[in-house]
Amino acid sequence: MKILIAGALGQLGRALQTSLAGHELVLRDLPELDLADSAQVAGCLDETGARLVVNAAAFTDVDAAEADAAGAERGNVEIPRVLAEATAARDLPLIHVSTDYVFDGQADTPYLESDAPAPFNAYGRTKLAGENAARSANPKHFIVRTAWLYSTGGRNFALTMLGAASRGEVRVVDDQTGCPTYAPHLADGIAKLVGGDAYGIYHMAGAGQTTWYGLTRALYEALDVDCRVAPCTTEEFPRPAPRPRFSALATAHTDLRLPAWENGVRDFAADYRRQHA
Ligand SMILES: NC(=O)c1ccc[n+]([C@@H]2O[C@H](COP(=O)([O-])OP(=O)(O)OC[C@H]3O[C@@H](n4cnc5c(N)ncnc54)[C@H](OP(=O)(O)O)[C@@H]3O)[C@@H](O)[C@H]2O)c1
Repeated sequence: MKILIAGALGQLGRALQTSLAGHELVLRDLPELDLADSAQVAGCLDETGARLVVNAAAFTDVDAAEADAAGAERGNVEIPRVLAEATAARDLPLIHVSTDYVFDGQADTPYLESDAPAPFNAYGRTKLAGENAARSANPKHFIVRTAWLYSTGGRNFALTMLGAASRGEVRVVDDQTGCPTYAPHLADGIAKLVGGDAYGIYHMAGAGQTTWYGLTRALYEALDVDCRVAPCTTEEFPRPAPRPRFSALATAHTDLRLPAWENGVRDFAADYRRQHA
């Protein structure tokens, strides 16, 4: 199938290029194509004849979204709205990626697809508005919510913590719980949706749950990094955007459950070693 990967140069976009390699891929990102521009998107779909769009593009800087309302609106609401309208007009399905931060973190058990979202930071509010825009414009939508995404490329928590290890000791937040998700695992999960018609919301995140502290310890252990990890609280590490205390995701689509987050760390470490050998 001919598939347009929107946001093809981001960390998920690059992982999708591998997981969807058996298809004919159309890769688009800034600056070649502005996905928030409806004329450019319409032209791209008509010129390429893509039969499905996977949207991995977004405004992903959670802290910057608090101050840059226009940027977050454009990346997280306009892009999915434009893509959903353009795909609906051509009777094409859209796979749109969203986030665990649509939830407020008050739960004690992992959020299911049927739970009501209630975001409490600007990033989460715009991502939820983007989900709603996609759902209302195109009935043929898959909304894939993921969490704590990392890979061996791009900017992400795992690479930040590996870079910080030279300090000899790091303090890491231990009172936020979520599902670290290795981008290639998510991309493989998304690939399973291709060609299907069970439209709706899907939670796809590394199975199980941990804290940022737990993730850091696992990363250092997997890569034999010699650095002390000390737990700290969210209050001790203030950020511009509030984070949900608990945003672990679970799924009712058990056949599409992603590998355990620990397996994500294992696979990340193997890929990282290969790339830095
Ligand atoms: N990262 C996480 O921890 C996380 C957690 C939960 C959910 N998610 C969701 O997962 C998805 C993928 O995230 P990611 O971490 O792979 O993102 P990413 O690495 O930031 O990649 C996003 C890509 O989209 C591009 N883009 C932004 N605005 C665009 C526009 N107007 N036109 C064309 N391209 C545009 C970006 O280009 P520039 O770099 O040039 O701006 C970038 O290449 C997003 O929907 C995100 O909200 C991420």
